[in-house]
Amino acid sequence: MPDYKYILVERNENVGIATLNRPKELNALNFQLVGELASALEDFDRDEAIHCIIITGAGERAFAAGADIKEMADKSPLEMMSGGFEAWQRIRTIKTPLIAAINGYALGGGLELAMHCDIIIATENSAFGQPEIKLGIIPGAGATQRLARTIGKYRTMEMVLTGSTISAHELAAHGLINHVVPAGEHMTTAMKLAQTIAAQAPVATRLAKDAILAAFETSLEEGLRIEQKDFFLLFTTQDMREGMQAFIEKRKATFQGK
Ligand code: COA
Repeated sequence: MPDYKYILVERNENVGIATLNRPKELNALNFQLVGELASALEDFDRDEAIHCIIITGAGERAFAAGADIKEMADKSPLEMMSGGFEAWQRIRTIKTPLIAAINGYALGGGLELAMHCDIIIATENSAFGQPEIKLGIIPGAGATQRLARTIGKYRTMEMVLTGSTISAHELAAHGLINHVVPAGEHMTTAMKLAQTIAAQAPVATRLAKDAILAAFETSLEEGLRIEQKDFFLLFTTQDMREGMQAFIEKRKATFQGK
């Protein structure tokens, strides 16, 4: 594992864990941190032993309080465009299922990072928002699109135009958070979910993610075609034979990722 400065990386059996590790700065996302995170996720993605990944934040106060304002404050548009923003695109193309385990603030790029994940767990004391408007900018890592597609135009407008924060319970009611848990229980809940996902056939979980994400990109017709292609492709795997045979023989399936 490379020696990262701003993140911690560990493995727990088939689950990879990446922890944003600038707790004093509320895990503010500087360019190097996002680049390190993208590299760590790509390493996990290439690793056949890793079947699910959790992203969380170090410390008691934040998942991430957004992009690093101090780093961006004197940047020009050109410096922003060439300064490492492509790392977000790398995170977007990770194929392994990603779980965000949130404890505290998930603001700006922090909420956008959570929305790059496939399942979101948050403690009830967490606070969410897109405060960029208060800095004279708008979200730049996907919030205008991903929020609008998940919680709808009107709530997104209010969040992005006012910059005000919203609670975990409210966002869960709007469909953006899977589970709201008591303070301190985000990792236990995320790990249980991750282990359940990691126990499935990994080719199937990656293709399931691929097909579900297609729902946000394509027409229904095209999305259904992608789902069917992925579905039929799985009939070429040994894991599919094993899964069905295990059911017939009334035993637990042992998947090999093949
Ligand atoms: N970028 C850079 N540094 C940040 C940061 C960010 N997005 N968010 C927090 N920090 C730093 C603070 O500057 C402070 O550093 P200091 O101790 O050297 O002064 C430290 O983290 C702790 O934050 P602080 O503001 O003192 O904590 P708080 O409890 O008073 O407020 C927040 C917490 C989250 C409300 C506040 O930090 C905040 O509004 N952060 C910015 C959120 C934002 O606008 N994000 C979008 C960025 S595009």
